[in-house]
Amino acid sequence: RTFTRDGTSFKATSRTAPPFAFAFDIDGVLLHVAKPIPGATETLQYLQRYDIPFILLTNGGGKHEQERVEDLSKRLGVPLSTENFVQSHTPFQELVHRSWGQSQINGQTETELQNENGLSGLVDKNIFITGSDPAKSRLIAEAYGFKSVITPADILATHPTLFPFEPLLKDRYIATARPLPSANPKIDAIFVFNDPRDWALDTQIIIDLLLSQDGILGTYSSKNGRAEYENHGWQADNQPHLYFSNHDLFWSAAYHLPRFGQGAFQAALAGIWNQITGGKAELKRSTIGKPYARTYGYAERVLSQWRAELLRRSGREDPKAEARPLTRVYMVGDNPESDIRGANEYSSPQGTEWASILVRTGVWNKDRDGEPKHKPTAIVDDVKSAVGWALEREG
Ligand code: G3P
Ligand code: MG
Repeated sequence: RTFTRDGTSFKATSRTAPPFAFAFDIDGVLLHVAKPIPGATETLQYLQRYDIPFILLTNGGGKHEQERVEDLSKRLGVPLSTENFVQSHTPFQELVHRSWGQSQINGQTETELQNENGLSGLVDKNIFITGSDPAKSRLIAEAYGFKSVITPADILATHPTLFPFEPLLKDRYIATARPLPSANPKIDAIFVFNDPRDWALDTQIIIDLLLSQDGILGTYSSKNGRAEYENHGWQADNQPHLYFSNHDLFWSAAYHLPRFGQGAFQAALAGIWNQITGGKAELKRSTIGKPYARTYGYAERVLSQWRAELLRRSGREDPKAEARPLTRVYMVGDNPESDIRGANEYSSPQGTEWASILVRTGVWNKDRDGEPKHKPTAIVDDVKSAVGWALEREG
């Protein structure tokens, strides 16, 4: 089979444990929501045929990894597994039994890191969760190992006047509400697993919790959100820790123009916090997902393990192949702010080079956006051209 890139055809050979691998973004590279982008299926099938390792690395979420890969395998016609799949909230499972603590991570500005000061594992703590369907997000969090997960529906059922309007998703909330651990539980962490739908209720509850005394629902602390206290740094026992799974302001869906992502929700919440605190206290948060190094580090570990598994499965008798390190990962993405920036800024602890390839099938549009702010290693038409370009470069 040959690969064509801008007319040049290119004979691929089956490689024994190539030293390189791919990371593919999904929305805008492989799919527009549910519709495969031309060339995506044949490209992934080709890589699988020649045992060239790849993972899918998306800021999308909302389904458990197992459910999403089954859905993606069907849509793309390519067998995928949770072993080569990382979505926005996947790394949150690390927080069940450990804390991320203070860590110097490239690509994350101080704001995102500022308040990671060693929250111990959250397994037995009450966490608040929201997303496209908070009841589904709760099931994912419980599958990760969190034991006490509270949704907006639970809070609304116990405190109906907390939200003064007719809730838009009332039936769904009534159908999925569970009793609270106590009437006004202490909540230690707030998770946004993927793009919320009910911004009105979600922002009300999240801000209530950030203004509360030690995360206790229904209380108010005039300390929180005040610059004089903020200057004393993040007091984890003062406010629940706020986690976002990505900060995509836009993403590439089925509509011809980019759509708001979780970053728009984050900006709306930060805008309300700014109004309430008179601009004196920054909305402290921890954000993962692309472009942040925590997600690229997590993805690199998944990719390295997957590559070793492929080698094992293919029974490579070439011992040298096993030893050859993963020297290069090609990150194929459509969003300069997440995919390209993240690969460009990530410095791998194992010395792996991350090259970035920007495709023209997603968020970025040269006429509308001009030259990408984060310069990719290459700009190509689509995912098939991206792989052709990389294979040619690898010779
Ligand atoms: O919600 C999905 C969006 O934020 C981006 O997804 O696959 O382009 O990283 P993806
Ligand atoms: Mg994308």
